[in-house]
Amino acid sequence: MEECLAIADFDMSLKDQIQKDRLPNHIAIIMDGNGRWAKQKGLVRVIGHENGTKAVRETVEASAELGIKNLTLYAFSTENWNRPKIEVQTLMRLLVKSLKKEIKTLQDNNIKLSAIGCLDDLPKKASQELSDVMEKTKNNKNMTLTLALSYGSREEIVNVIKELSVKVKNNIISPESIDESIINKHLYTQNLPDVDLLIRTSGEQRISNFLLWQIAYAELYFTDILWPDFKKENLYEALINYQNRERRFGKTSEQLT
Ligand code: FPP
Repeated sequence: MEECLAIADFDMSLKDQIQKDRLPNHIAIIMDGNGRWAKQKGLVRVIGHENGTKAVRETVEASAELGIKNLTLYAFSTENWNRPKIEVQTLMRLLVKSLKKEIKTLQDNNIKLSAIGCLDDLPKKASQELSDVMEKTKNNKNMTLTLALSYGSREEIVNVIKELSVKVKNNIISPESIDESIINKHLYTQNLPDVDLLIRTSGEQRISNFLLWQIAYAELYFTDILWPDFKKENLYEALINYQNRERRFGKTSEQLT
């Protein structure tokens, strides 16, 4: 009993340390380590992914409770299609199952679901369920939860270049008018602000083709925690760490004060 109380106190104090007026507007997460989590326990990889969905729920809930406005999760990369067929099928099945299960949580918490990536690549069942939940939650205002599915940042940028090239060719825009704002408007993330905080779990310190343009000035936070073990307190720790950093955006420290 005493132990439980101590854990609860610890949890509260971490949450209390977060300054509500200095929250990142956009958090993006590379959810890594499901396979290693399962392997450490002598389980098959898919069990790791199943437990990964619990960490998704925990993180979405914690973010919404804190008042985070945008949360983007790297759920499936363009490169992930190269995984064993059974693992790809399981991830797609888990996506459908989670969408069906969590629609109520999204509605109750006023969360809008969105998706970025080459969504046409998804199996029909997954894309139908996704469209259904996106349609039902489209007017929700508390937080936007974006799932990156069949997402690759280089592919996203290549698509932008192709679209802009066609517009130049057809005299819809001039080459001189191309600036950062036009590029932003052609990215999958056109409705999202730049990423403020990028979290990657499992000890790997890579970006893995995730939101390369959008993280230009993001604070990067790497933790050894494997994704299925990622709890609310781990998010609080990341936020406290983020709030202790000075974001200079190329300026000097003195200019900021
Ligand atoms: C990386 O771990 C994780 C993934 C490729 C998929 C993430 C998917 C989930 C968390 C579950 C489903 C998500 C939703 C949104 C319903 P890994 O398999 O690369 O782990 P490893 O590096 O230890 O092998």
